[in-house]
Amino acid sequence: MNSPKLTLVGAGPGDPELITLKAIKALKSADVVLYDHLASQDLLEYAETAELVYVGKRGHKRGISQEQINELIVEKAFEKGHVVRLKGGDPFVFGRGVEEINFVTERGIPASYIPGVSSVNSIGLSGIPLTDRNSADGYWVITGHKKDGSLSSDIALASQSNSTLVILMGMSKLAEIEAIFSSQERTNVPVAIIQHVSTQNEKLAIGTVGSLVALAEENELTNPAVIVIGEVVNALKNGFGEALKEQISIYQRVA
Ligand SMILES: C[S@@+](CC[C@H](N)C(=O)[O-])C[C@H]1O[C@@H](n2cnc3c(N)ncnc32)[C@H](O)[C@@H]1O
Repeated sequence: MNSPKLTLVGAGPGDPELITLKAIKALKSADVVLYDHLASQDLLEYAETAELVYVGKRGHKRGISQEQINELIVEKAFEKGHVVRLKGGDPFVFGRGVEEINFVTERGIPASYIPGVSSVNSIGLSGIPLTDRNSADGYWVITGHKKDGSLSSDIALASQSNSTLVILMGMSKLAEIEAIFSSQERTNVPVAIIQHVSTQNEKLAIGTVGSLVALAEENELTNPAVIVIGEVVNALKNGFGEALKEQISIYQRVA
C-alpha cells in the first residue's frame, strides 16, 4: 500500500480541459478521489485505479458536513494511501482547502496542493477582463456569504473604489448589493452575472448594478454564478468582447 498522503487538487471551473498537467498526474496516481459537484466529472476518467467518492453538497439528502469530509480524508489515507481531494476552481479560493490541509497535517498525514483555474480567472472567457488600466486599478474578490451567512462588509468598501468587484456566493444577496451601490449613487456601473462559466450551460446577463435583482430574475440566473461589477464589463472593443459573449448559450444585454 502507498503511504498515507493528501493532494488537494484544483479541478478548474467546469471545462475539463482547464486543468493542469500536474493535477492529471495526481489523479492518475490516486488510490482514492473525493470530489464535489463543481468539479467536472469527466476528470474522474484520469483516476483509472482509484476508488471514487462523491462528497458534494448536492445529491446528498442531508448534506455532508466539512467535519465528515475531513474525517473521511484521514480514514481513506490510512486505509488506502494517496487521497486526491478534487475541488472546483482553486481549492484556496473559498474552497475550504485550508481546513482540510490543517486537519490532516495535524494528524501526521503529509499534504500537498495543486492550484486550479478559479471561476474568478475564468471571467475572461465571457469577454470581460478583470483589469484594464483605463478603467480598473485592480480587482477585489469578495464573498457574498460569510461563515455566519451575512454579506461581507468589504463589499461596501469595494463599491467606493476604482477597482473591479467580483462577488462569489452572492446570488442570495443581490438586493443588498444593489442597495449598497444605490447608497453611493453608483447605480449606472456596469454589471455582469455569469452562471456556470466555462461549461455548456454557461449563461451571461449584462446590465447596470441599479437593476441587479431584476437582471437575475428576468434571466433566471442562479448558483453557481459570479457577479462582476465595473467598467471592465465593456472594456473589450472592436467586436472581440461581443464575439466571446455571443458564444454563450443565453446572453442577454440589458441597457
Ligand atoms: C464555494 S465557492 C468555490 C469557488 C472555487 N474554489 C473557485 O475557485 O472558483 C462556490 C462559488 O464559486 C463560484 N463558482 C464556482 N464555479 C463556478 C462556475 N463554473 N461559474 C460561475 N461561478 C462559479 C460561485 O460564486 C459559487 O457560488
